[in-house]
Amino acid sequence: MGIRTFVDPLANNSGAEKCPFPNPNARLAPNGYGNAPAGYGNGSGYNTANTSRSASHSGNHSDTDESDVAMKPPKEKKPKVPTIFTQEVDPVLIRASLEDRIAYLTDFLDFTSYDSQIVNKAAPLVNGLIPDLVDDMYTKLFEFDITKKVFMKRNQGFTGALPTRLEELTLDSPQIKFRKVFMKSWARRILTSDYSSGKTWAYMDKVGVMHTGASPFKHQRTMGIAPLNVPYRDIAMLLGFVQQVLQAAVLRLPNHQMSLNEKIDCVNAITKIIWIQNDLFSRHYINE
Ligand code: HEM
Repeated sequence: MGIRTFVDPLANNSGAEKCPFPNPNARLAPNGYGNAPAGYGNGSGYNTANTSRSASHSGNHSDTDESDVAMKPPKEKKPKVPTIFTQEVDPVLIRASLEDRIAYLTDFLDFTSYDSQIVNKAAPLVNGLIPDLVDDMYTKLFEFDITKKVFMKRNQGFTGALPTRLEELTLDSPQIKFRKVFMKSWARRILTSDYSSGKTWAYMDKVGVMHTGASPFKHQRTMGIAPLNVPYRDIAMLLGFVQQVLQAAVLRLPNHQMSLNEKIDCVNAITKIIWIQNDLFSRHYINE
């Protein structure tokens, strides 16, 4: 299989920034399934990938507002044609090339620029909960000795005092406060990132690999920081925890800020992003 060039199926054709990653092949399959409906590329912000999902709930809720209408996909029904087009994916290539891997992941999950837009829309509305989210993440990690003891080691850039016994390490410890800054930054990036940029996925991939004993960030290498080794088991649990909190926060938004349809779409988009982040952790553990 060759390099998968990216054409964001959601971007309109009038100069919108094209994402370097996702692969439109499946959605532009030669069987007609997924062919662009009328309105595709007209700047509506939708593509075929969202047609059936969004159409399935369009008009069914009474809380539809103006912005929701503006983001609605065309109403044509997706033809019920069996999928006869099978994409070829090279397992070796998607192990070696992040770009190709992201193309596969985003295609599999049907992650489109609409997902990106809807999460970006929620970002300022849930931004206020991020400090509490991060506090709760650390409270959770401190509930168990196996996750707490990881924080007994000196972290990068931290020069303050460290406790010598696990019992002495508290959520108010200077190093934990220091760590929270980085975790808040990750949470904000998850909500505000431009997912059409390869840099976003590269950052998420580096966050993954840095927990496996490697030092992908330049600042880690230049500061001579000892590698971090966190079991994948704990990473997966924490991702599940974050996913719950973010999704609950979105669902609790008042309808005048986000319609019910948008909240449903946003919850789905968060699921996709967290599971892509999960892959960008797990792939470094299982070398797959
Ligand atoms: C949701 C899963 C997780 C995410 C998204 C995450 C994210 C991050 C990020 C963004 C950093 C800072 C990277 C930088 O230097 O800029 C970091 C560092 C760190 N993480 Fe995680 N992490 C996760 C899970 C865990 C778990 C489960 C543990 C331990 C039980 C852990 C322990 C650490 C430690 C100790 C550091 C500091 C390493 C150092 O500075 O030397 N992380 N993590």
